[in-house]
Amino acid sequence: MNTWLLQKEGFDKKDAASDGNRFLCANGYMGLRGVPEEAGSALFPAITLAGVYDQFEDKWREPVNAPNCLFIHASFNGQSLSVEDGSPQAHSTALDYRHGVYSRKTDFGAACIVSRRFVSMASPHLLADEYQVSFRLDGEMTLETGISTDIWDINGPHLFDYQLTAGEILAVSCVTGQKKINLAAAQCVQADFEAEESLRQDETGVFRVFRRRVRKGETLNLRVFSAVYTSLDEPAPADAAKSCCREAKAAGFSACLQSHTDAWEKIWTLSEITLEGNEEAALFLRASQYHLNCVAPRHAKNMSIPARGLSGQTYKGAIFWDSEMFFFPMFAYTQPKIAESLLRYRVETLDGARKKAAEYGYRGAFYAWESQEGGEEGCTNFNVVDVFTHRPVRTYFRDKQIHISADIAYALRSWYEITGDRTLLQAGGAKVILECARFYLSRANGHFDSDRVDFADVIGPDEYHERVTNSFFTNEMIRHCLDSALLLKDIFADQPAWFASLLKELNYEQDWALLPALRERISPPRERNGVIEQFDGYFGLEDCSLDTVRGRLRDPREYWGGDHGVAGTTQIIKQADVIALMALLPERFTDRQAAANWVYYEPRTEHGSSLSACMYALTACRIGRLDEAWDLFMKTAQIDVLGGGKQWAGEIYIGGTHPASNGGAWMIAALGFAGLKMRAGKLSVDPHLPRQITRLSFPVTACGERYRIDVTHEGASISRQ
Ligand code: BGC
Repeated sequence: MNTWLLQKEGFDKKDAASDGNRFLCANGYMGLRGVPEEAGSALFPAITLAGVYDQFEDKWREPVNAPNCLFIHASFNGQSLSVEDGSPQAHSTALDYRHGVYSRKTDFGAACIVSRRFVSMASPHLLADEYQVSFRLDGEMTLETGISTDIWDINGPHLFDYQLTAGEILAVSCVTGQKKINLAAAQCVQADFEAEESLRQDETGVFRVFRRRVRKGETLNLRVFSAVYTSLDEPAPADAAKSCCREAKAAGFSACLQSHTDAWEKIWTLSEITLEGNEEAALFLRASQYHLNCVAPRHAKNMSIPARGLSGQTYKGAIFWDSEMFFFPMFAYTQPKIAESLLRYRVETLDGARKKAAEYGYRGAFYAWESQEGGEEGCTNFNVVDVFTHRPVRTYFRDKQIHISADIAYALRSWYEITGDRTLLQAGGAKVILECARFYLSRANGHFDSDRVDFADVIGPDEYHERVTNSFFTNEMIRHCLDSALLLKDIFADQPAWFASLLKELNYEQDWALLPALRERISPPRERNGVIEQFDGYFGLEDCSLDTVRGRLRDPREYWGGDHGVAGTTQIIKQADVIALMALLPERFTDRQAAANWVYYEPRTEHGSSLSACMYALTACRIGRLDEAWDLFMKTAQIDVLGGGKQWAGEIYIGGTHPASNGGAWMIAALGFAGLKMRAGKLSVDPHLPRQITRLSFPVTACGERYRIDVTHEGASISRQ
């Protein structure tokens, strides 16, 4: 088995959405969905751009898909050589995870297409395709290549004022509706055959058309170079896109591919986990690492990663807590610059968070639940559409999921622990922590002069129970945030003047004095037989099985939460909540506590979010439930190989890739199975290797040093590289 290769035989239109995700190529700047070159919008083609958002009419803001500048469509003797309408006799698709190369082979009987393509990891704006078509009969061939405007949009259209340019380089310039961002795509080709050539341009795009009589046995080769730029990158995006294409063509396909694969090799040197003992698991883990690595913002210093990566517009292309809790650890331990970029995004969007806090009448920083550019809140008040009434359902994620600010503070503190670097804290990170802590001071509504502070009307990670009081997860994360704010003084003990001036700049003197008071008074967890109550009153809810609740659904797409959801009045939860906290702050609990809570909550968890299984797996490792940890690992790691995960929340499409699971797979392998830890400047391992794995070996970067971790059933080692 080639554990670097995902392969699929056959074509089925109903799999197109999911295959587009599974076979995604991306480089952090853009994501190209894994659909064949000739796909029209019915097959969900998209080149999704990172960090470029638009709103059409009163619909949700979402990321913009560029015109499809890698469009190629051939016909032969009047037959369309298209998977969709050409009835292929055979079709296979592959994705090489090692080098991010998508390939396809489609046999139409009289003609056969073989192609491979990539989104360059070496040159962020470049995409390239090598397309070969061979013939088994004499006949007339037409080959069209160009920039198609027939693209998939969930809430579009987003692009207007198209200007098409034909010539040696084809180009499309357009502008987004809301913020008038200029966007340009260009394409040029290198053909190894002579043909009658013409240009076509209409409302579907601009195309180069090759017409030629071909003979039986003949093969034609075409290499296509495309580029995308926006005015956020360059003042003249069309010129930039054209010169990118021109330079790529001059260098040639092989040279461009070589630079791209070299870049991927470097990524694997820094991050590859070798898993021995189970080939299927090795493939799943590689897929996970591929998918997370390919959406990392390597081209930027202050960008984060959307919850569905760059696989489309789902979840509004927004940045969730997924970034800090699930993507951050792999990058912090393997490619710190990327982890830093995720955090700098939060530093630079601090004003957005302050604005949101003020909007709700609070002080400090209340980060957006679904953050877009500038920290703008993308989450609406109605985030789900009811499948029965087709009416939007009022959800409170935006208003009440206040743990988001503490999650960001948690990652900033982890950054310091893993890298030993204080410069990020000095360059705004400390300010973020202090402003998050201030938000909780003001959210406590001044009640902390009493003995006990209840944080009421919140939502924890389990979104099926909204507006609860004393969410254990939320309270403990707030406590950790306050603690991190206070710790800053020790971290900067050698720079008291700098720290004092920071407090002064933030006008923080009074708030500083209140931090310990609030930390001490936050309501302590309530326990029953060693099990912590997820929130006040949770134990009083109907205690029934997951199957019972599932059996009450009248539509498989029905939303389980909200006012009328089937889970709301029961103890069935959407995702890890108490257990997520125990996985994030393991030192705070004994193994006995971890075990009692795992045993209680796991059967009551739907794992209805791809963020869930990983947290349970981490705790399962700790308490020695290694078979369960293994199953949860496989569930986490396989998601973007097999195309799993929920596709609908009510009537809203939520499919795409799952970077949180991808990061979760790394976390289970490294932090769970190997037990990797960095505390007080010391790296350690504490292996919990399931019997299905014989060896794990992986590189780690910590405090600026490179290490290799090796774990087998015989023992473990950490060696400096
Ligand atoms: C989960 C959230 C998560 C979001 C994006 C939701 O379904 O409940 O915890 O942040 O998806 O992945």
